[in-house]
Amino acid sequence: MNSQNFNSNHVLQSGYFHKTLRKWQSTNILVEASNFIYPLFLHENDDAYEEIPSLPNIYRLGLSKLKNYLEPMVNDGLTCVLLFGVIESDSLKDEIGSFADNENSSVIRAIPKLKEWFPELLIACDVCLCAYTIHGHCGVFNKTKYASIDSCLNREKSVERIAQVALAFAKAGADVVAPSDMMDGRIDAIRNILRENNMLNSVSVMSYSTKFSSAFYGPFRDAAKSAPAFGDRRCYQLPSGSTGLAIRASERDVEEGADILMVKPCMSYLDIVKELKREFPHHPLAVYHVSGEYAMIWHGAKANAFDLRMILIEIIHSFRRAGADIIISYYTPLILKWIKENK
Ligand code: PBG
Ligand code: ZN
Repeated sequence: MNSQNFNSNHVLQSGYFHKTLRKWQSTNILVEASNFIYPLFLHENDDAYEEIPSLPNIYRLGLSKLKNYLEPMVNDGLTCVLLFGVIESDSLKDEIGSFADNENSSVIRAIPKLKEWFPELLIACDVCLCAYTIHGHCGVFNKTKYASIDSCLNREKSVERIAQVALAFAKAGADVVAPSDMMDGRIDAIRNILRENNMLNSVSVMSYSTKFSSAFYGPFRDAAKSAPAFGDRRCYQLPSGSTGLAIRASERDVEEGADILMVKPCMSYLDIVKELKREFPHHPLAVYHVSGEYAMIWHGAKANAFDLRMILIEIIHSFRRAGADIIISYYTPLILKWIKENK
């Protein structure tokens, strides 16, 4: 095309040469503090303050450290935390994850404290058994001598335990329960137990509705001391190559009454995010920017492959473009600072 017959309607830069114009072109990707959820690892030992080697700059925190740790983030606009319990001693772990809903668990003791310190903060709790079971899997087995896990999980017992744990968090004051176990029927079981306890309308269910089996969870399992003692999670987490199961899993959870959907991990699964947002435009959709994604970006920035801030903004825009309403990220404290500076 020579300059004479160049069609001036092909000039796009006229639409985005100025910062404000770029914002107008990006109305669907505005990023606010309330888009973010910060995951927290709550150690059984109240005085713990342990850095996690595979998750740089993230700590396993004891209850006594929590207020001071969170205060600056709340001042920067933090609106929601996602709680995970961490058990150091194997003696507290068993076949069915009994300690998950014990009143002495770090998560259950933390909820009322957080409510007292930060009354506005929305409290979400991850609901799973893997950090509390001796075998490190997310459900309950048929027998205690397991040669392989394929088809050995007991669905009924698993969802019964998951629902009990969700109820215990709800009773302690959690606003959101977020089952990450991937057992079939757990959203239904949770909604039923909440209904039986008159809490159906006061507790949100954020389902890890489309959760893939992923190598990106590596650092998390180290952080939460929840790696499976044998085998892997492929018979309950979704196969990474499958679009069909990815969509059906969220469809099923919508039918069972999930308030909020999720795709996890997210950077390699934005096609699924986009498709789910299209199918369920009226459900808030969360993405979990998981531990391996966090670590990968951290190490890349450390090695000067790119600038941390620039790459994170770009990645967050990709989540928003794809349709994510909520972003669960270990980078939340940093991002909140950047949002505040730009105001
Ligand atoms: C527990 C759970 C996992 C994550 C969140 N909840 C690990 C797993 O399923 O193996 C992963 C989070 C992350 O990697 O940051 N079911
Ligand atoms: Zn689990």
